[in-house]
Amino acid sequence: MHDSTAANRRHDEVIEFMRTRRSVPARVLAAPGPDEAEIRRMVEIAMRVPDHGKLAPWRFVRYDSAYCERLGSLCEARAVELNGALGEELRQAERERFTRAPVVIAVVSRAAPHPKIPEWEQVLSSGAAAMSLLIAANAMGYDAQWLTEWVAYDEAMAPALGLRPGERIVGFLQIGTRTLPKTERERPVLEDVFSVMKG
Ligand SMILES: Cc1cc2nc3c(=O)[nH]c(=O)nc-3n(C[C@H](O)[C@H](O)[C@H](O)COP(=O)(O)O)c2cc1C
Repeated sequence: MHDSTAANRRHDEVIEFMRTRRSVPARVLAAPGPDEAEIRRMVEIAMRVPDHGKLAPWRFVRYDSAYCERLGSLCEARAVELNGALGEELRQAERERFTRAPVVIAVVSRAAPHPKIPEWEQVLSSGAAAMSLLIAANAMGYDAQWLTEWVAYDEAMAPALGLRPGERIVGFLQIGTRTLPKTERERPVLEDVFSVMKG
């Protein structure tokens, strides 16, 4: 018989997984990364987010490794265009922007004005999709980081990133396996961010 009490539906491992969740910086992510089947599975999980009006106001773009190299060259050229001559170290950092982690997936927001669903809610759903992708990657045993960096906001880079007019980058999800142990990160104090309004 189906038992619906909370105690019987508890998923203690999931709770502990969420309670201790941590991102790992892209620069310390190495192979192995997820394979094609795992990537598709994690995107399917990320699609399963609250989405008011079933608009799917997000989409996902995976850049394969050759494309990541190409994006790196474009980042370098654009960084020079924006900042003038750069030293070799900075140029290299730009070249490697999309090749730090084995797998990079862009989460794209297609949020737009709609007669019934506020654009804000579409943006929130897009953020939720990125978070679900991050969690799905972790649940499959990989480490990951949600990055934007300057590239996400640079209009000249938008076409190369696969953005269509009006779309925005929610984040570049960097996925791989950590080469250094996870560290703790200071978190807000519960009382500072949680309150109860009593009647
Ligand atoms: C929308 C968004 C963009 C982010 N962009 C960057 C970024 O460009 N560079 C960066 O170092 N961290 C960025 N972060 C922060 C990291 O993803 C992450 O929160 C941080 O490394 C701490 O990880 P954790 O709190 O998940 O453990 C961004 C986070 C969000 C939500």
